[in-house]
Amino acid sequence: MTAEEARKKIIFALDVHGLDDIEHWAETLAGKVGMFKVGKELFTSCGPAAVKAVQRHGGQVFLDLKYHDIPNTVASAMCEAARLGVQLTNLHALGGAEMMETAVSAVHREFNDAERPRLLAVTILTSSNALTLRQVGIEHSVQDMVVRLARLAKASGMDGVVASPVEIGLIREACGPDFLIVTPGVRPPFAALDDQKRVMTPLEAVSSGADYLVIGRPIAKASDPAQAAECIAADIADGTP
Ligand code: C5P
Repeated sequence: MTAEEARKKIIFALDVHGLDDIEHWAETLAGKVGMFKVGKELFTSCGPAAVKAVQRHGGQVFLDLKYHDIPNTVASAMCEAARLGVQLTNLHALGGAEMMETAVSAVHREFNDAERPRLLAVTILTSSNALTLRQVGIEHSVQDMVVRLARLAKASGMDGVVASPVEIGLIREACGPDFLIVTPGVRPPFAALDDQKRVMTPLEAVSSGADYLVIGRPIAKASDPAQAAECIAADIADGTP
């Protein structure tokens, strides 16, 4: 893989509060990463201006708002995300097949394939374990639920899922080569683990089948963030055919 292809796989998590921080990171990492993730915290504080600020610097956006509501509401919200011009957006697969299908049809109806965002489903949050599931009445293992929900997402017309590194292989096997897999929880060899537990390196995650990697602190906390991003891309490029 070329370094440019490897850079495009990196999604920098904008876990920051204000527009000044966005401007700073969008400028610092322009051309070094493929996309910027705007999550609930940033979107709640800055709104669509957060997306526009990234786009002003030529950056692409993963709008990570994890919608979960009645089908009509989720479909309308996803169309609004598409109108913002983001490249990736997501919902919770636990909202069910009808919710996903309604969102997919609405976005496909309003936007042509080239300009619409890819629609991702979150299966089971990486913070959940068997106990978390049992407490809400789900008796299956996390792994079984992840595969089950990934299959349901695919059957509902979703473009891919967000999944932890350890789940990549199972999902690839269940959903085939064209289903997008976006993976947080990766740690380059040079970075601290922070609160991450079951980690892989970026190269391992890409080799296992991840299309995109969400990376925050290993880049944000590095003494030279742009260089850290370059190191990660070089590592992926050198280690893949
Ligand atoms: O740990 P790091 O700073 O690289 O996290 C980047 C992003 O990945 C965060 O915005 C967080 O939402 C997400 N994440 C996750 N599951 C984890 C850890 C982080 O989805 N176990």
